[in-house]
Formats: sequence, C-alpha cells, structure tokens
Amino acid sequence: MIKPEAMAAGHAGKILDMILQSGFRLVSLKYTQLSAQEAGKFYEVHKERPFYGELVGYMASGPVLAAILEKDNAVQDFRALIGATDPSEAAEGTIRKRFAESKAKNAVHGSDSDENAAIEGAFFFTGREQY
Ligand code: CMP
Repeated sequence: MIKPEAMAAGHAGKILDMILQSGFRLVSLKYTQLSAQEAGKFYEVHKERPFYGELVGYMASGPVLAAILEKDNAVQDFRALIGATDPSEAAEGTIRKRFAESKAKNAVHGSDSDENAAIEGAFFFTGREQY
C-alpha cells in the first residue's frame, strides 16, 4: 500500500515504477480511502501500541493505493525494496529512503508474511479483482 502522505506528495507513479522495475507483477490495484474504522481494523495487530491512534488517523487522512503483488519470495523481496520502517535507518536506494517522511509517515506498507499478505489482500480486493 502506498500511504496517504506519499500519495499527497505525488510519489505514487515513481514508487509504482520502482516496484514494477524490481520484478513484481500487479495482481490487483485500487485507489481508495480508508475510514478510521477500516484503518483501525487493518492495523488491529498494533492496537496496544502507543502510536495506534496516530497511525489510524494518519492512514485514514487521505487516499491510498492498495496493491496485491506477485513474485517469487515476494514478502522478503518487497521488504528489502521498501527498506526499514524508520527512513533514517533505511538503506540507500530503498523506497522509504527516497520517499518516506518519518517512521510514522513512511510512504509504503508491505505485508510481513504470506499469511498476512493473503489477509491484507482480501481486505481490499474481492476474488474478481485479483488477476
Ligand atoms: P507499517 O509497515 O505499515 O506497519 C505499522 C506502521 O505503524 C508502520 O509502518 C508505521 O507507519 C507505524 N509506526 C511504526 N512504529 C511507529 C512509531 N514508533 N511511531 C509512530 N508510528 C509508527
């Protein structure tokens, strides 16, 4: 998912290009905005964290670009492409190094396992929206 601050800054095209140039295939793509309730559900695993309220407000603050991506070793390779959660710790050439504003407003989200990728994909897309 490309997050609200990266969308508002006009980085979506460049970020998507980096993803496709890195060998990911688009299975699904959607321009949408989460309600606070939906953002809260998406990030439910972080409910007990001190930043949960801030995270939910931010993720519902503007449109996002949600995608399902396919590639061998996709979860690991995508996390390598986006870089560390905190852009100050992200490697050169990663998406977060180039485009993230802060640890909270960090430009993109990537699933942390195949299991969560399936859950998060189903959150945004019906079966007929996956090709
Ligand atoms: P993401 O990879 O989408 O997963 C959880 C999100 O919570 C993370 O990116 C950040 O947007 C946010 N986050 C993680 N740690 C912090 C923090 N310490 N303060 C604020 N937001 C955070």
